[in-house]
Amino acid sequence: MDFEIRIDVSRAKSAAVGAEHGITPAELRAIERRIAAAHEDLRRERAEGVYGFWDLYKDEAALSDVKATARTFSEFGYDNLVILGIGGSALGTTALATALKPKYYNMMSRRGRKGCPRLFVMDNIDPVTFCDMMRLCPPRKTLYNVISKSGGTAETMSQLMIIVGAIEKKLGTEALADHVVVTTNPRGNGAPPSLLHPVADTYQLKSFTVPLNVGGRFSVFSPVGMFPAAMLGMDLDALVAGCRAMDARCSSPSLAENPAYLRAAVQYLAHTEKGKVMSVMMPYADGLRDVADWYRQLWAESLGKRLSLDGDEVFAGQTPVKALGATDQHSQIQLYREGPNDKIINILEVRRFDRTARIPEALPGIAPLGYLRGSTMNKLMAAELRGTMDALKLSRRPVSRIVLPRLNAHTLAQLLYLLEVETAMAGRLYNVQTFDQPGVEEGKRIAKALMGAGA
Ligand code: PA5
Repeated sequence: MDFEIRIDVSRAKSAAVGAEHGITPAELRAIERRIAAAHEDLRRERAEGVYGFWDLYKDEAALSDVKATARTFSEFGYDNLVILGIGGSALGTTALATALKPKYYNMMSRRGRKGCPRLFVMDNIDPVTFCDMMRLCPPRKTLYNVISKSGGTAETMSQLMIIVGAIEKKLGTEALADHVVVTTNPRGNGAPPSLLHPVADTYQLKSFTVPLNVGGRFSVFSPVGMFPAAMLGMDLDALVAGCRAMDARCSSPSLAENPAYLRAAVQYLAHTEKGKVMSVMMPYADGLRDVADWYRQLWAESLGKRLSLDGDEVFAGQTPVKALGATDQHSQIQLYREGPNDKIINILEVRRFDRTARIPEALPGIAPLGYLRGSTMNKLMAAELRGTMDALKLSRRPVSRIVLPRLNAHTLAQLLYLLEVETAMAGRLYNVQTFDQPGVEEGKRIAKALMGAGA
C-alpha cells in the first residue's frame, strides 16, 4: 500500500547504542511470551466488548449519523465551529485539525476554507481566552459542539452555561437547537447519568454518543473527533481506511509483524530495563505537533497508575514529553544529548511534504550560505532529522522512529491507531488498568467540592 507507515526501532537497540541503553535481542526474545499472553487478553477483551476503541472505525451507523448531521449543519453556513471540551474530549480533534487542515486555516477566507467553518477548541477555562473567543465567534454565526463523556466535567459545564446564556440572550432559547450539538455517553445500560442528557432533552439538541466502553483519550474515532472532522471537511473514509489498515497489521501477536507491539515492547523495556523514565515524542512536521500532545495524554493517563491489576502499589508510568523538530533542536536537544540518559526519543518523520519550499540563489555575495542556495527546506528538514538522529546515537540515546510517507487522513489514522494499540499493550506489560483515570477523577471531585457542589 502506498501510504503504509513504517516503524524503525533499530536505534533503540543495543547494536546501535550499547547494551546499557539499548534493548538486547535476548531482552526482546524474553518478552515475546508476555506479549503473546497479553495479546490473548486484549483479543478476548475486544471480543467481549470490554474496551471498544478498537472497533470505532467499524461503527457505520455512528459514522453515517456524523456525516448526515454535518451535512445538515453545514447548510446553515456557520463561520465558526467551537468545541467545548477538555482532555480526551478535545485533544483528538486538535490533533486531527493541526495535521489535516492548513496551518493558518482560521485566518483563511471562507472560500479558502472550502466553505467550512473556522475551528476553536476551547479546552480550558482561562477567562481571557474564552471571552476573546466569544468576541470572535458571535452566537449567530457559530455552532458549538459540547463534548463530555461523563457529562459533568466542571470546566466544560461552565463553558456550556456561558454559551447557552449568550445564545438565549442574543437569539432566544428556541435557537439553541440550531447552535448546540451534544456529544456524551449513552443513556441507560448502567451508564452513569450525563448532565448533558437533560440539557439535550430540554432544548431538543442533536446528540451523539460516545460508547460506554471507550474512554475519552481513546475516543478520537468516535463522534468526539469524527463530527468536528466532518464539519471541517476532512475525509472520514480515508480515516476509516487508515484505521482498518493498521488494525490488520496489529492483529498478530508476533513482535516481528505487529508494529504496535514492537513499539510497546521497546518503550517498556527502555523504561524498566534501561532507566528511560521519559518518552519524548518529537515530530519533524508542524502538522504532527498536536499528535505529540494527544499522545502525551494517552501515554500519561493510561499508564500512570498507583496500583497494578493485582492491587499492589507500583507507581507505574513513563513520563511523556513533547518536542518539535527542528524547532526544539534549539531548545531541548542539548539536554537530550548531554543531560541524563533517561529518555527514549520517538521521532516522527514525514517522508514527503505536500509542498516544496525552494531556497533561491539569493544572497550570492555570502559565500558560506552556498550550501543552502538552490536547495529546499524539505531537504534541510530531512538533514536536520538525520543529523539529530545520528548525534543522539553518538551520545548513546535510544531512538524509535515512525515514518509517514505523506501526511494525510490515511496515514494520520494509521498513526493514531498504532499509538492506541501500543498503549493498550504497554498497559498490559506494566500490568495496570490502562483504561481508567482515578487520579483525574479525584481532582475533579475536589475542585467541584471547593466550588460548593452538593452543598
Ligand atoms: O481521557 C479521559 O478520560 C479524560 O481525559 C477525559 O477525557 C477528561 O477528563 C474530560 O472528561 P469528560 O469527557 O467526561 O468531560
